[in-house]
Amino acid sequence: MMDSELPRTLNVENFEMRIADVANVEISQLQALSISVGWPHRAADWQHLLDIGKGYVALDEIGRVGASAMWFPHGEDFATFGMLVTSPRLQANGAAKWLMTRIMADCGHDRTRLNSTREARRLYMSLGFIPKGTVYQCQGTALAPAPLAPIEAGLALRRLDRADLDAVIDLDAPAFGSARRQHLLRLFDSSIGYGLYEGQRLRAYSMRRRFGRGHVVGPVVATCDADAVRVAHPHVVAHAGGFLRIDTHFDTGAFARFVQQCGLTVHNTVKTMVTQEAASYGTGQNGAAVVYALASHSLG
Ligand SMILES: CC(C)(COP(=O)(O)OP(=O)(O)OC[C@H]1O[C@@H](n2cnc3c(N)ncnc32)[C@H](O)[C@@H]1OP(=O)(O)O)[C@@H](O)C(=O)NCCC(=O)NCCS
Repeated sequence: MMDSELPRTLNVENFEMRIADVANVEISQLQALSISVGWPHRAADWQHLLDIGKGYVALDEIGRVGASAMWFPHGEDFATFGMLVTSPRLQANGAAKWLMTRIMADCGHDRTRLNSTREARRLYMSLGFIPKGTVYQCQGTALAPAPLAPIEAGLALRRLDRADLDAVIDLDAPAFGSARRQHLLRLFDSSIGYGLYEGQRLRAYSMRRRFGRGHVVGPVVATCDADAVRVAHPHVVAHAGGFLRIDTHFDTGAFARFVQQCGLTVHNTVKTMVTQEAASYGTGQNGAAVVYALASHSLG
């Protein structure tokens, strides 16, 4: 669809909403919007999203933000969508569909993915997204996990720094579905990371950063459950007693059990949806890594 064919204003009941760049509104307004639907984003969490994403807001006649939608480029030909919110008092007037149509046109990629709440699923289906699996949002006050067996000979777990970026991108790309260099770079700035190395080869990595009510552990990327637990473990140890969140597609197996044993229970589920099969997460074929925990719903 051509940009120029999309309407620039929308009549909502008796007033008109106009579209504006999400980068041009006060973060406090964005935060007020996400709080209005019960989302925990702090100003710093919105800043993180604005640093790597683009999008729009719908403003009412006195400049209040009534809805938002963003997209996040990950490499040349792949994007995720997120932060689709309509203020409760304005819902069911077409605002979300209006903004989604707009960002999909801007993004222009065929390969896109998002994580949908129950409320948004019908809207995304109508825009051509197909469901691809469930994300379990696990959270709670973290319990100190049981110590792990000593690490196998030949493996080393260590803190990641910028020098590990290329190794992280290489491991991550087939799991995530695209080389998300910009985002991983941004995550390095605000996260503590661990990598499991076998000689020079990175086998698994994990990150933890402040988010919402506490901290989030993600991404976690590994080729097997045991490695995923190995890299996630130190984050839970460091954060025992604090509020911790892990978003994972796994509800069985050793990683899912580890998450439960750490006191993180399923608070909510969302559905991963894609515009085409090729936008799915990697399935771990041929020994490739898979995503055990997401950076966030919006960022995948
Ligand atoms: C999901 C949400 C963004 C929809 O916003 P909205 O502006 O009300 O949506 P629209 O008016 O554009 O409606 C788009 C479609 O979704 C449907 N829809 C809207 N709210 C719905 C609900 N609660 N349950 C089922 N369908 C709903 C509409 O009927 C419409 O479908 P149609 O075109 O077939 O009639 C809004 O409910 C919201 O902010 N919810 C809380 C945050 C959230 O879950 N965001 C989605 C993140 S993935």
